[in-house]
Amino acid sequence: MPRHLLVAEDLTAQEIEAVFAVTRDLQTKFDEGIREPLMPGRVLALVFEKQSLRTRVSFQTAMVHLGGSSLFLGADTGFASSRESIDDFGKVLSQYVDGIVCRTKSHDTLEALATSSSVPVINGLSDASHPCQALADIYTLKQHVGRVRGLTLTFVGDGNNVARSLAMVSALLGMRFVLAGPEGYHFSSDFLSHVQRIVPGAAIQQTTDAREAVKDAAVVYTDVWASMGQEKEREERAKAFAAYQVNDKLMALAPEAIFMHCLPAHRGEEVTNEVIDGPQSVVIQEAANRMHVQKGLIAWLLGHAS
Ligand code: CP
Ligand code: NVA
Repeated sequence: MPRHLLVAEDLTAQEIEAVFAVTRDLQTKFDEGIREPLMPGRVLALVFEKQSLRTRVSFQTAMVHLGGSSLFLGADTGFASSRESIDDFGKVLSQYVDGIVCRTKSHDTLEALATSSSVPVINGLSDASHPCQALADIYTLKQHVGRVRGLTLTFVGDGNNVARSLAMVSALLGMRFVLAGPEGYHFSSDFLSHVQRIVPGAAIQQTTDAREAVKDAAVVYTDVWASMGQEKEREERAKAFAAYQVNDKLMALAPEAIFMHCLPAHRGEEVTNEVIDGPQSVVIQEAANRMHVQKGLIAWLLGHAS
């Protein structure tokens, strides 16, 4: 059975630290102009059911830097359509490539692909989770503060795929995670019990009070109010989340915090221009780190880390 990364808890805390160590090494070399060819001749397939800039391009450039290559496979391969079963698709594709990154509408589709694949499958975002995003975010926090254990990440917004993965990585690494959002958009009790099963005693809180929630935060994080696939709910969600915009007033309550957003952002909705372009924002470094951390991840996961 190949090793997959479908959800953040597919990695242990020690393994996340190992991925970060490989990342640091490769990033230092990259900054010195060295692109270590750890994976010559290796091929990564990217099977995407939804749009992407960061995930797609960062995996593709990472493979080039590692001396390998990648194939972007969009709708024309017929993945998850009536053309052929996901099982046949996964069995066949994994004969050709060394790893698969997959972005799906439904997490079940991703799981079905992983079951049929003989090579590692990496979640490039599903409706349930976005582990590569969370790894890059926590790596970015570590670069800023030097440590993560004991720090608080406050996510202002929807308990969505990004929030779930951040909560899980935070729990694994001994951080406190606070979700601040309106009633009805918090994590399910099933998810909360699941986190406690994986990390007993994990410090996860939910509140409707964003002002209180950001006060001790090392990171104030937000994401779009309506994710891909929720376009029909956009108006209803805009009303529900109107009081949860991350703006100067909110950030003034967390003067020491950095601001993060996975991007793409809906400026003027969940975040103002002043905040996302302001001095506390690290969103571009965060996006850049997607490439570095994914490079560390694929080198580690595919067994080519130095
Ligand atoms: N943050 C992120 O995953 O961006 P893309 O949707 O552009 O890949
Ligand atoms: N929650 C967002 C994240 C995009 C990177 C979405 O799923 O659309």
